[in-house]
Amino acid sequence: MSQLAPVRVGLLGLGTVGGGTINVLRRNAAEITRRAGRAIAIRCATARSIDKPRRADLGGIKLLKDPFAIVNSPDIDVVVELIGGIEPARALVLQAIANGKHVVTANKALIALHGNEIFAAAHAAGVIVAFEAAVAGGIPIIKTMREALAGNTIEWLAGIINGTCNYILTAMSTAGREFGDVLKEAQALGYAEADPSFDIEGIDAAHKLTILASIAFGIPLQFPRVLVEGITQVSREDVRYAAQLGYHIKLLGIARRTPDGIELRVHPTLIPEQRLIANVNGVMNAVLVRGDAAGPMLLYGAGAGSEPTASAVVADLVDVARVLTSDPENRVPHLAFQPDALTDVPILEPGAIETGYYLRMHALDKPGVLAEVTRILAEQQISIEAISQREPLADEDVVPVIIITQRIREAAMNAAIARIEALPSVSGPVTRLRLEHLE
Ligand code: NDP
Ligand code: HSE
Repeated sequence: MSQLAPVRVGLLGLGTVGGGTINVLRRNAAEITRRAGRAIAIRCATARSIDKPRRADLGGIKLLKDPFAIVNSPDIDVVVELIGGIEPARALVLQAIANGKHVVTANKALIALHGNEIFAAAHAAGVIVAFEAAVAGGIPIIKTMREALAGNTIEWLAGIINGTCNYILTAMSTAGREFGDVLKEAQALGYAEADPSFDIEGIDAAHKLTILASIAFGIPLQFPRVLVEGITQVSREDVRYAAQLGYHIKLLGIARRTPDGIELRVHPTLIPEQRLIANVNGVMNAVLVRGDAAGPMLLYGAGAGSEPTASAVVADLVDVARVLTSDPENRVPHLAFQPDALTDVPILEPGAIETGYYLRMHALDKPGVLAEVTRILAEQQISIEAISQREPLADEDVVPVIIITQRIREAAMNAAIARIEALPSVSGPVTRLRLEHLE
């Protein structure tokens, strides 16, 4: 066994992921040491309340009230940031870097919003900032794209990258359960963010997509350019109608290279039921990546939860342990491409994005109404793939009409929807969900 001194870790955060990280490091200590070439030891840790009982054995770990005492400690080599949110996480990470310490974090919000600044600081200081746990929990998607697919031009990727939303959509479709109840369950299981609106509004998935797109295409992190729609507007009837037409609804993050720029979008999406990714259920995540050489590749695994996420944190710690003695210039670049080789490919405006659509509207149950709707779609050059009129709603003279369209620019669809909503024969807003065949 190695005679090298253990890597000394300071742990910020003792919650779901922090506790899991302690448990995995303890349980697998011997295997981890064999892989890393030296032991990895958590020396000290912090949380808001250091007296709270924890789901982890804290024996031998010094608990400190002040997180800055950890990042400033000369006895710590690596800081693991598992607090979440922007501040004080950002200040702590930057201070750790300034002190020459390597950092491991699971904080996708921090990387998506401040990663450019953090990686520049880390590059200047010659330290690593590792963030595998920030995207898709236990799935090694960062390492796969950054290293294993380094020979490919990535064409597009599409991922179910929020476990909480997938958990909710699965329960709505398989058990017909209420949104609110299932969200509470996902929170109790430790899947949801501290503010669960980040999950259900699509923001957490957009943070992760921002990171994936940078690594896929060699572009700076650009969270504000992502088109984001969450799952709050997906109703149980949409889930049911989509299923009747052969589609499952998933919250997808999509990044696609097009001749005009890069599409970055997160939204509920109808996917044909025969696609593998359409059958990823519960808290499981999956990312489908298409490289020009490797072709399509699907990575599947637990997208949230204590130990799956800890698995990624610990893998990053092993990487840090392995490279502690290597030349900084020869390390794997943070965003896969060399820092001076990032390119400025434009991100497409939402109106320029092309996708298929599912439309649901309530139309008066009388002749000629469907003709008016289809005429508007035709005038906007929108081709219809399927159209179906459902049973009339109880005590009402309107019928739900479902239309599936072929791919069309979002601007044309927005114009068509505005015209359809203005028809006297159509009542209320048109529900619009995007649809991807992912072929
Ligand atoms: P938790 O809320 O369970 O844990 C957060 C921890 O940070 C708690 O121990 C909390 O202390 C501590 N903390 C919060 N604020 C401060 C502060 N100002 N100073 C010191 N400590 C603080 O979060 P998770 O473990 O779920 O998430 C941690 C990170 O991992 C987040 O960035 C999250 O997005 C990310 N992540 C989470 C996943 C999951 O499945 N949960 C999966 C992938 C990533 P106290 O316990 O005393 O309140
Ligand atoms: N809240 C996140 C999710 C945690 O549900 O996917 C994992 O990043």
